[in-house]
Amino acid sequence: VGAEDANYLVPLIGTIPDVPKKGILFRDFIPVLNDARGLRILLDALIASLPVPADEFDSIAGLEARGFLFGPALAARLGKGFIAVRKAGKLPTATIGEEYQLEYGTAKVEIEVGAVSEGERVLIVDDLIATGGSAKAAADLIVKAGGTVAGFSFVMGLDGLNGTDKLGEAPTSILVTMP
Ligand code: ADE
Repeated sequence: VGAEDANYLVPLIGTIPDVPKKGILFRDFIPVLNDARGLRILLDALIASLPVPADEFDSIAGLEARGFLFGPALAARLGKGFIAVRKAGKLPTATIGEEYQLEYGTAKVEIEVGAVSEGERVLIVDDLIATGGSAKAAADLIVKAGGTVAGFSFVMGLDGLNGTDKLGEAPTSILVTMP
């Protein structure tokens, strides 16, 4: 983020201690969306820091739920379509799914069959990268569906978790890094 952009966005990000459990600092970007200038700057900053030029991807995939809050707006700004990567069991059609490990147990993400065309180059977005598990699952899902992963864009990254290590070669941008 440019210095001015960061100066505006960072104070809007909320920090809630001990949510969802003791010892976690929950980073809440919802107040950025509440703020008209914050929302505009967020989209401007994501576009200014795209990990690959906009002509090198065809669509944007966002992860449920918080990737749905700005992914479609970003896609519309760039003249791209949006792919909804949903939590398992919600889509009404035939789906393609990918399981991944959580701290305890497993989770699964799904897209609709036909959401990705053969060779489609997809930028994956989410609000926050922590360990990178869900972003990696989304990437594997896009590949399973016949697409390629052009890169990843996150609003926030958590220090010390090395989440991007999981994401392989694809270029990644993170607007704001925090502990
Ligand atoms: N997802 C994983 N870690 C998180 C955190 N600290 N704040 C918000 N979302 C998260």
